[in-house]
Amino acid sequence: MNTSVAHPARRYNYWLGGKDHFAADRESGDLLAKAFPTARVAALENREFLRRTVKFLADSGIRQFLDIGTGLPVPDNTHEIAQRVAPESRVLYVDNDPIVMTHSRALTIGTPEGRTGYVEADLRSPEAILDHAELRSVLDLTEPVALLLVAVLHFLHDDAQAITVVRRLLDALPSGSYLVASNLTLDFAPPEQVAKHEELLASGRTDARARDKSEFARFFDTLELVEPGIVAASDWRPAHDERPTAQDVAIYGAVGRKP
Ligand SMILES: C[S@@+](CC[C@H](N)C(=O)[O-])C[C@H]1O[C@@H](n2cnc3c(N)ncnc32)[C@H](O)[C@@H]1O
Repeated sequence: MNTSVAHPARRYNYWLGGKDHFAADRESGDLLAKAFPTARVAALENREFLRRTVKFLADSGIRQFLDIGTGLPVPDNTHEIAQRVAPESRVLYVDNDPIVMTHSRALTIGTPEGRTGYVEADLRSPEAILDHAELRSVLDLTEPVALLLVAVLHFLHDDAQAITVVRRLLDALPSGSYLVASNLTLDFAPPEQVAKHEELLASGRTDARARDKSEFARFFDTLELVEPGIVAASDWRPAHDERPTAQDVAIYGAVGRKP
């Protein structure tokens, strides 16, 4: 593991106020927060989106979750949210950061009735995820599954690759399954922030590729969008009237159901 290079999971953990980060992650986090002062707000709102969508799906009867791009453990992880609604819920976590692996024990302690598992793998290799013995032992792919790709698709810069990966994963899931996704967007950003982001991306100082609404919508092409459709993550069935603006959050979020 190379801790001298910033990694998304640790930088995100830094923004969320966690303890699992190194100097390179903090430097990168501070650099991006200087260019985008609401980066921390965006991280927190993204996490709230994940919480609300998992609760919504658990309340709707979904009992299986495939959470790819898990991130480091935080107080409310997917299995805790789902198992609070239904203790028998099963969750498979997947991340490509070895540091998340070292925390996987915290992610795999669930209810006795449910199951949680952890696989270290890359979203770019969906077959390796789908064929993994741990996935097959935790999830039953003949029953609906919620596929969570929350704040991870923007690390796949190539649209064709990202779409292929999402389709391959959805193809393996039965009717009644769901996709939950969020992605950085500059649709609400003023031109100077768009220019700043492009400069940072071109120089390799940020690794997140923003998508506009039509680019993000393509992930849901084969699905029925759940109300309110594609909106800023903070505006997806919000818990509070007072919340950051779409410009501050700069992340699209949506939930789709496989017909
Ligand atoms: C910003 S965090 C999001 C964590 C969580 N999904 C959330 O929204 O709170 C992105 C996570 O995706 C993981 N990640 C980035 N690229 C990945 C890839 N190609 N395959 C698997 N995981 C990846 C990172 O290690 C990190 O844990």
